[in-house]
Amino acid sequence: MTQDASRVLIFDTTLRDGEQSPGATMTHNEKLEIAELLDEMGVDIIEAGFPIASEGDFRAVSEIAKRSKSAQICGLARANFADIDRCWEAVRNSARPRIHTFIGTSPLHRAIPNLTKDEMVERIEQTVTHARNLCDNVQWSPMDATRTEWDYLCRVVDVAIKSGATTINIPDTVGYTAPKESADLIKRLIDTVPGAADVIFATHCHNDLGMATANALAAVEGGARQIECTINGLGERAGNTALEEVVMALKVRGDIMPFQTKVDTKKIMHISRRVATVAGFPVQFNKAIVGKNAFAHESGIHQDGMLKNKETFEIMRPEDVGLAGTSLPLGKHSGRAALRAKLHDLGVDVGDNQLKDIFVRFKELADRKKEVYDDDILALISATTEGEDRLQVVSLKVICGTGGPAEATLEMEIDGSDKTAICYGDGPVDATFKAVRELHPNKAHLSLYQVSAVTEGTDAQATVSVRLEEDGMVATGQSADTDTVVASAKAYVHALNRLIVRREKIGGSDTKEVSYKSPAE
Ligand code: KIV
Ligand code: ZN
Repeated sequence: MTQDASRVLIFDTTLRDGEQSPGATMTHNEKLEIAELLDEMGVDIIEAGFPIASEGDFRAVSEIAKRSKSAQICGLARANFADIDRCWEAVRNSARPRIHTFIGTSPLHRAIPNLTKDEMVERIEQTVTHARNLCDNVQWSPMDATRTEWDYLCRVVDVAIKSGATTINIPDTVGYTAPKESADLIKRLIDTVPGAADVIFATHCHNDLGMATANALAAVEGGARQIECTINGLGERAGNTALEEVVMALKVRGDIMPFQTKVDTKKIMHISRRVATVAGFPVQFNKAIVGKNAFAHESGIHQDGMLKNKETFEIMRPEDVGLAGTSLPLGKHSGRAALRAKLHDLGVDVGDNQLKDIFVRFKELADRKKEVYDDDILALISATTEGEDRLQVVSLKVICGTGGPAEATLEMEIDGSDKTAICYGDGPVDATFKAVRELHPNKAHLSLYQVSAVTEGTDAQATVSVRLEEDGMVATGQSADTDTVVASAKAYVHALNRLIVRREKIGGSDTKEVSYKSPAE
């Protein structure tokens, strides 16, 4: 291992493992935006996708590879030449490309391709050698390592190192391990496998038992020097290790974990919000570091303590993760310059045209809401669609109450012409969604509908997230409004617009064609 012994590399897989989780699909432009934010915040390696999985993944990885400024750009490949070649094609334009190839080594995973132990060793030797002939930066992972027999794990890690792997990642694919075991496993591998000192060991933990962050940090204690993680802990099932948690834990507890990353922690909040929005996965309120309540002090005793000395109940400063300390709300008299300055403080730099658009929506909101808080402004930004919207909500009137169905009168502009529908439903949202479907017939299935209040008070904006699925394509939409039903209509239409863009631009090829769980020939 050539790097400084106290340096821990941060390998972000939001765009691969995170995006792979059902419903978290991002558009091409969103992937580029998130990759740029990861690069700017100082992530060392970005796993940008799984190039052979789809045309969309390939395009995204290639484009991210071309654009990245300082991060290494990595693509995922199963243990076969076609995957590895496709991956190399996508990452080769990066100044710092990496190929990540893997195969499931535990008894359960070995049974899928039906390989004997010896056959699998041979496959590892061939595929890692092939990858290494293409690229001098090769990461290899024995999937489900934590449930692989110890002797066999040593054997496969040994052959991967001998075949040229430069990073050995030890995945806890099903979130099965526990901190002590995680530390011991890495330490024993480093002590046992010849050549281990010449490579970097990485840890990749899933959160099924809620231990992903603890397991990743323990692995570092055991000698791992690369942590694989995602923003907001996004990922399949219960997700992956959360980037913000490991980075802040290392920063705050440097006294007992003397390791450094090069992540600019002040950029955490902004990227967390963007990932939550584009993936359509809102962050739980009490989520460590990035949850809405992570720095809120409600109880009288806590507030009193905070006023006397912030350290009484605060182990890190909100400013350290990019939350403006004492931010003053904007109001209807605030001008464009104040809005631009506020956006800048929130880590969002916009061009003149975008500012014009946000300003119009800000004024509309300020007319209805006395004080416009940071979260309100971020919610406004989140509700923009890339490209021209073919469908737009013009007006909505709803009559509802006890003793009968709700009635929604919805006017929409569809491809430039106005259309109106009146529909009845089981409550105002149901009636409104029926009206949308009457005006724009579609067979998209509504797989998520979620409402949360952006700020406090009865005039608070509601943020609505909607996820639609159609023929294997997934699109999410968000909107915020002081009227929950209006926000719902706009979020639904936002998601429909994105489905339309996807259908037209990608022609359905953005769907996942292969699953990473089945190592194939
Ligand atoms: O969880 C896992 O095992 C993975 C591998 C592909 C590294 O994501
Ligand atoms: Zn994983």
